[in-house]
Amino acid sequence: MTYIFENAAPQAGMRLGVLADIFDETTRQCLAARGVQDGWRCLEVGGGTGTIAAWLASRVGPTGSVLVTDIDPQLMSTVSAKNLEIRHHDIESDPLPADAFDLVHARLVLSHLARPDLALFRMVSALKPGGWLVVEDFEVPPPGDGDDALSATALAMRGLTSAASDHRLGRTLARRLVHAGLEDVEIEGRARLVRGATLGARLMQANFEQLRPRLLATGLSAEQFAADHAELDDPRFEMRAPTMWTAWGRRAA
Ligand SMILES: C[S@@+](CC[C@H](N)C(=O)[O-])C[C@H]1O[C@@H](n2cnc3c(N)ncnc32)[C@H](O)[C@@H]1O
Repeated sequence: MTYIFENAAPQAGMRLGVLADIFDETTRQCLAARGVQDGWRCLEVGGGTGTIAAWLASRVGPTGSVLVTDIDPQLMSTVSAKNLEIRHHDIESDPLPADAFDLVHARLVLSHLARPDLALFRMVSALKPGGWLVVEDFEVPPPGDGDDALSATALAMRGLTSAASDHRLGRTLARRLVHAGLEDVEIEGRARLVRGATLGARLMQANFEQLRPRLLATGLSAEQFAADHAELDDPRFEMRAPTMWTAWGRRAA
């Protein structure tokens, strides 16, 4: 699969910034509940803008360390800490140290990969015995009707993204972690609505904007695109957002 929301696009920083604004708090709660503390060695895979990596670096303190990777780490240029290393790295193919990390985390990365289970096995091998893996991903609901009807632009975007990512992956995370040999596996999902004129609507608009040329190439008119974009500014707008599934498990001690 090819990652279609490239970090080099002019809209990418804003888009991933909104993503962090919506999801970081829940992610931090889950990582804190795994016990991340002074001295831990952490790996953040596909770190995007690096907000979670920066939080981990402050949490593990000077005796700990964080390695944050991405196939395109350019959006992390403002993130820095003495105990934080940013590395250009492909989780499907580039080397990782074995038995090295107390915690490995990846959010919204696996669903974009052609071989998510290979990436999971590689993350598990990078864990120390007893270390925690936390992975998070979307389950995108099928197009609905009534309140959850998709606009023409959202429907065209769904077509583009479903060819480039696995819309069901979030729902499958627990069984994948068990298959990868982890213990104490748990999973929680968070359902949300995208409501007009909120951060969720802003994220959807940013997705539209980043994919605009490809959306118009599907035959969508510029007028329809503009109307569907503007509808997201209406506070009465509501539609079901993808469910974010968060799964965790630990490597046998
Ligand atoms: C949807 S963004 C999520 C960013 C961040 N994890 C978050 O949740 O805010 C996906 C990120 O994964 C990165 N990525 C995609 N394929 C990757 C790969 N094979 N190895 C490492 N990173 C990858 C992208 O460059 C992008 O920064």
